[in-house]
Amino acid sequence: MPNTETTLTYPQYTSWMRELADLRYANAVLQWDQETYMPEAGAERRSGQIATLSELAHRFFTDPQKAKELNQLLADNSLDEKQRKNVSLTAEDVSQQAKLPGDFVRTMSETVSKSFQAWMDARKANNFAVFAPLLGKLIDLKKKEADYLGWQAHPYNALLNQYEKGCTVSMLDATFAALRAPLSALLAKIAARQQVSESIVKQSFPEETQWQFSMDLLEKMGFDFRAGRQDKSTHPFTTNFSAHDVRITTRIDPNDLSNMTYSTIHELGHALYEQGLPDAEYGLPLGEFTSLGIHESQSRLWENNVGRSLSWCSSFFPLIAHYFPEQCAGANAETFYRAVNRVQPSFIRTEADELTYHFHVMIRYELEKTLMEGSLPVNDIPAYWHAAYKKYLGIEVPDDKTGCLQDVHWSHGSFGYFPTYSLGSLYAAQFFGAAEIAIPGLQKQLSAGNFGQLLNWLRQEIHIHGRFFTSEELCKRISGDTLNINWFMQYVKEKYRFIYSLEEEAIPS
Ligand code: CO
Repeated sequence: MPNTETTLTYPQYTSWMRELADLRYANAVLQWDQETYMPEAGAERRSGQIATLSELAHRFFTDPQKAKELNQLLADNSLDEKQRKNVSLTAEDVSQQAKLPGDFVRTMSETVSKSFQAWMDARKANNFAVFAPLLGKLIDLKKKEADYLGWQAHPYNALLNQYEKGCTVSMLDATFAALRAPLSALLAKIAARQQVSESIVKQSFPEETQWQFSMDLLEKMGFDFRAGRQDKSTHPFTTNFSAHDVRITTRIDPNDLSNMTYSTIHELGHALYEQGLPDAEYGLPLGEFTSLGIHESQSRLWENNVGRSLSWCSSFFPLIAHYFPEQCAGANAETFYRAVNRVQPSFIRTEADELTYHFHVMIRYELEKTLMEGSLPVNDIPAYWHAAYKKYLGIEVPDDKTGCLQDVHWSHGSFGYFPTYSLGSLYAAQFFGAAEIAIPGLQKQLSAGNFGQLLNWLRQEIHIHGRFFTSEELCKRISGDTLNINWFMQYVKEKYRFIYSLEEEAIPS
């Protein structure tokens, strides 16, 4: 008699995965605390605590016995479609993770914690040299990681694949190449027009009032405060410990209302996705987000397609004027709309307009690719940065803080992450385009401050599926098309034609 007996049942698999999730989310609490409330002196011990939990989780997950049992469980015919998907994705994840030795995971985790502190110190000193030694160590570790994971054509592919399954250098090269020409042409048309004023958002806005406004706007746009909270951090982020405990952070610039406003809406978009993941699938792949590109599509959709629309500005301007009556005197929703859509090459990625944004991402993408090839010494990063900003955006980067020290990602050990920002914006335009077709009168609803139907649509089309579909499958189901930059180009052309009074025939196609 053939031995078809499995040693692992589906319920046993589920509880094993949930124990692992408990370990991982406990670690996420430590990391969230590190970036929000932990006192400076706690840093050293905290690195050790996080490293220990990371190593434990890794050991637990890559148990060779479990890998065997998962494959046996996959042969169990009584599994339904979703259960089978959970088990097969887990088997895939285990085989990927098992390629990384435990001591490597620990070294990586410790180096990341130290790097984060070094990055903060370097920013304080406005000096890249403070961060460079640890960054060099991280890059070496990332090269090692790519080798452990295995790669074809380019070592960077191994890292890209961790954030966006199937994403490669050749796919990104093609996407960015396709974007570059029409974007540059549109930017040139805009530069030739009279600049719009942003004075409405560049005034003095008391921090405390900004904070109250941000909490109010989160509530009005659908953030569930019984299942999440907002705090402050240097670099805004979203993390979650379950679909019922989602943490976001924001930052406040007392001289710029748009900084906090759009950072808050961006993280809100991430949070709505996390709060919409099926809690019944806690700890399992179908309870997790599809990919970082899809995660970012949700933040960018709420931030830009919704938050920077004339509809949103019409709906929220009265509330903004309520919190800041003096600053808003004599202005209206359209003044605000133009101000928050001003196109201008600038230094900081997170504050960039929707057009120049892609150049910020492109620069990081090309730089990381070069670093992974090993053809650029770490100490030359500031000079590379300077030259790239000059070439793509025509601006002179004044110092490290406004240059290569602005992003937290490398200090987190995240290489290959940046491209998901451009992918996210492109998916966002495509999803929002599909939503406008699916929801009649969507813009009218947004003008009335009614976000429920859009959120519901995103929940049904994207959130509830977890990792069941890949990004591209999801995209095709929703829009009938794989990722296609035309949706984005169409959206920005229409938008800026109005804002900058561009001639119809002058719009490059
Ligand atoms: Co984001």
